[in-house]
Amino acid sequence: MIWLVLLLPLLWFAAFRYRRRRMYELASRLPGVGELPLIGSAHKFIGSTEDIMSSLKDVSYAAIEKGGITRVWLGPILYFVSVDPVDLEMVMRTCMEKDDLHRFTRPVIGYGSVFAPVSIWRPRRKILQPAFKPKIVESFVRVFAEQSMKLAHKLGEAGGRKVKLLPYIGAYTLDSSCETTLGVKVNAQDDDMSPFLVEMGRVTRVVAERVFHLWLQPEWLFRCFPLYREQRTGCEVLHGFTDHVIMKKKEELKAQKSKSPKADQTIGLSDYDSMSFLELLIHFSGSEGGYSNEELREEILTLIIASTDSTASAIGYALDLLAKYPHVQDKVHEELDEVFGDSDRLLQKEDLMGLKYLDCVIKETLRLFPPGPFLIRKVEQEVTLPSGHVLPAGSGLIASVWGTQRNPKYWGPDADTFDPDRFLPERAALRHPCAFMAFSIGPRNCIGYQYALMSIKSALSSVLRFHRVRGRVEGGNTPHIRVKIDVMMKAVNGHELTLERRSLRCAPKNL
Ligand code: HEM
Repeated sequence: MIWLVLLLPLLWFAAFRYRRRRMYELASRLPGVGELPLIGSAHKFIGSTEDIMSSLKDVSYAAIEKGGITRVWLGPILYFVSVDPVDLEMVMRTCMEKDDLHRFTRPVIGYGSVFAPVSIWRPRRKILQPAFKPKIVESFVRVFAEQSMKLAHKLGEAGGRKVKLLPYIGAYTLDSSCETTLGVKVNAQDDDMSPFLVEMGRVTRVVAERVFHLWLQPEWLFRCFPLYREQRTGCEVLHGFTDHVIMKKKEELKAQKSKSPKADQTIGLSDYDSMSFLELLIHFSGSEGGYSNEELREEILTLIIASTDSTASAIGYALDLLAKYPHVQDKVHEELDEVFGDSDRLLQKEDLMGLKYLDCVIKETLRLFPPGPFLIRKVEQEVTLPSGHVLPAGSGLIASVWGTQRNPKYWGPDADTFDPDRFLPERAALRHPCAFMAFSIGPRNCIGYQYALMSIKSALSSVLRFHRVRGRVEGGNTPHIRVKIDVMMKAVNGHELTLERRSLRCAPKNL
């Protein structure tokens, strides 16, 4: 009997290995990093979120050294980490299903486009696409201008001493996001206890905890922890608020329609000027026969969550880098002075177009510190990459944005250094088009990248017109910022910096 008890698991294990023999065979052709029997590299991904980020960076550098790809076994789960834009261009077009880890976002955003299965994502992306036409995105500059002036003012009030900038910037991105998405003001910049701000922070923290702590992953076990109740409360607030705005908007549109029955059909590009994403999605999904209230809530919350932390982190990293490299900040100030002089007027979309050097600074920031540094795709069928490597069905592919954007093969031997001039048009043309992938590549790329660039540029220009940002000046050309992986990659110190009012400049408007 005892023999049978011992034999059965062995037979099960042998059958398990036999069924996956092709996977083991293909995996063995690629190099791994620091693997142990049975657990593979899983021991490298425990510890704080800073430790985990550090291991992910190490694996990316290992992939660079090993010619563009490496293998990572996490127990029986197999991932490949790629840092080669040629291979990634192909994978991101062919493997569009997202990894199962993304299921932890489901209580919050349901089947919102970003992590939805392909069958749900495809029609939703089609509906979302026209809402991101450049003309529509440009119409949001008014919101960015007002909210970023408010940010400059708030930071001015806190100025003259070291402060964590991220909470201020996060409130700016949430205010802008809610105004453009829902068409309502949540005033997070005026009230750091604003329920939407607090609960948004809470639910994203719970998602991150579940991704990185195995014991929180099984649903039945997660429900035993206080985090489950936190998530439920958070979702109740976010869903309740969003549902209320959706219902009010639908009633308003119904009332308008009963007054003028043709209004819905005769909508033109100029009408979009004053519309929020919510109104646009109601319209593009087919108005009354279109999205249900639940689908609208999923898409709207996806947009708010996808836009808030990512954009805030990008602004924070840019300010950190400008504090580290004062000569780059001087050039940004020169450009801003040419465009704005000493006025306290709100910025306009034409101003943004004139800020070419700031554009280079933002892209170089996103290259070195991409807020989404790792993107994961399921490999459902065997894929032969342009490099000749074969990914077995049943594995996962981690696109290391961090590694790709620091890969010397595509960015030169100084790939780790901060040099905004890399993005001058004459140098940008020489690169592989997918070597910069902070907004991902392929059909599931970031739909909001133009919106993001405008929001980041508005915030940086409004803050830097009036202030100089100071921190520890970096000794060399390679910037060091301690980072951790949450849902996004964030600075460990929340961008603790000092803002000083620029001499002889007027003060930012108090809106
Ligand atoms: C600096 C700011 C941003 C960065 C770095 C960023 C980055 C990304 C990346 C890397 C993805 C692909 C995710 C994946 O493949 O798993 C993505 C998807 C997405 N982003 Fe962004 N994003 C930013 C801002 C925004 C903004 C402002 C919005 C909306 C207003 C937005 C909306 C979305 C949506 C809806 C998707 C899902 C697209 C799809 O699957 O069809 N993002 N973003």
